[in-house]
Amino acid sequence: METKETLIIGSDHAAFELKEKIGKHLVHLGIDVKDVGTNGESSVNYVDFGKKVAKAVAEKEFDRGILLCGTGIGMSMVANRFTGVRAALCNDLFSARLSRRHNNANILVLGARVIGDMLAYEIVREWLETGFEGGRHSDRIDSIDAAYINA
Ligand code: RB5
Repeated sequence: METKETLIIGSDHAAFELKEKIGKHLVHLGIDVKDVGTNGESSVNYVDFGKKVAKAVAEKEFDRGILLCGTGIGMSMVANRFTGVRAALCNDLFSARLSRRHNNANILVLGARVIGDMLAYEIVREWLETGFEGGRHSDRIDSIDAAYINA
């Protein structure tokens, strides 16, 4: 049986439209997507959706996730409270690439009110296709979680 890459995605109302478009784009790329909402443009609290995605990644239910809100800032704040989550707010291609190579980011965060659709698709593609370099970066990443466990 063919195994498909699966990721989890969530947004608030400010990024609902872009989330829907990215979801369709990912399916087109052959990637299965678990969408935890929101499911419309009615005002919601981004924290509720950020938690769903971050918890699933922290508990290794999914290897990777995508979160979107208006700026991406609120979602980043929420997701990075979960031990084991490395959420990277990337509204440009260079950050998306380096967040994978150096930080092994497991959640990509996008600001729907900051970037356009085409750039968002490019960022998602770059982020999904770029691998982690490992080496010296592994120790640094490990020390992030260690710092909080021992704090
Ligand atoms: C919603 O108005 C907005 O505050 C939210 O999408 C996000 O930008 C928060 O960081």
